[in-house]
Amino acid sequence: MVIAIFVTMQLVLLGYMGSGKSSIGKSLAETLHYEFADLDTCIESLEEAVLTEIFKEKGEIYFRRREAAILNNLLSEKNKLVLATGGGTPCYGTIMDDLLAKDDVITIYLKNSLETLTNRLFEEREIRPLIAHLATKKLLNDFIRKHLFERSFYYNKATLTLECDALSLKEIVEKIIFKLF
Ligand code: S3P
Repeated sequence: MVIAIFVTMQLVLLGYMGSGKSSIGKSLAETLHYEFADLDTCIESLEEAVLTEIFKEKGEIYFRRREAAILNNLLSEKNKLVLATGGGTPCYGTIMDDLLAKDDVITIYLKNSLETLTNRLFEEREIRPLIAHLATKKLLNDFIRKHLFERSFYYNKATLTLECDALSLKEIVEKIIFKLF
């Protein structure tokens, strides 16, 4: 049974922007000898444009459609996969319920406090179309508080939740593996 789970598992990392999905995902995949994919990077490479350009030129609705389609393709093509989603991925359409309905998928919510997210994202907001316009930490903090409140409904459905604030990347990866196997 354990072997069967191990062979077919797809680990889908969820969480708000700045929660470390990509760096944690890479390290987790390396440790487990799984393939790693970053949904945003896949979208950028298929669209031959960075996210800010896609949002600006084609709009958010187009992005959400591509995001859902590319997510489905990745999950149908790859086993032993660690997938870092975008912060909004599970919050649109039926994506979260569809993920939960798949036997091979384990969803993992990387949970961080409002303060941690605000501090991290303030420095990196230019590359993120949804928050690039927020000029002060206060505005960013207010935006994240409201957004996180709305999105937590979806994130909290995840199979596993890990409180990440006080943990190093190595500790987070170890804890995920401990919870899984
Ligand atoms: C988004 C998060 C981004 C990216 C896009 C939209 C969101 O991914 O998908 O800018 O709606 O929260 P990260 O969470 O990797 O920054």
